[in-house]
Amino acid sequence: MIDFHQLPKVELDFMNTEHQEAVDIYNKIERDYLLHDVDSVISGILDIQEHCISHFAHEEQVMKNNCYPPLQVHKEAHDRVLMEIDMVVKQLKNHRDLSKIAHYIERGFPNWFSQHLNTMDKMAAEFISGQKLRKVG
Ligand SMILES: [Fe+2]
Repeated sequence: MIDFHQLPKVELDFMNTEHQEAVDIYNKIERDYLLHDVDSVISGILDIQEHCISHFAHEEQVMKNNCYPPLQVHKEAHDRVLMEIDMVVKQLKNHRDLSKIAHYIERGFPNWFSQHLNTMDKMAAEFISGQKLRKVG
């Protein structure tokens, strides 16, 4: 289980809100995974895929609007995760074998998520909230 309160908070509220939503979806996937409920895991992964697509697009749009210099590197990290999730969906739909995606559910996604929040998201949010303050001041 990912405990949202243990994760780093960033300087932009919309990011924290959407990160909390991702945690809720992930925790449901993990519960269904532990219950060996393949259909529910598949539908949960499709939910997190949809959430990630719109959340990443949202972050990228805000970074673009604020001329955030490392946008491309950040976007590449998002694209890699979307590719991984896509592979997990295909794997599960084709084989319906949870053991093949165990590593991604138990460690891959949660580790990536907390690391990404702590590094790229934190940096981007700091930069953008600084830009906003400058604009106001
Ligand atoms: Fe991000």
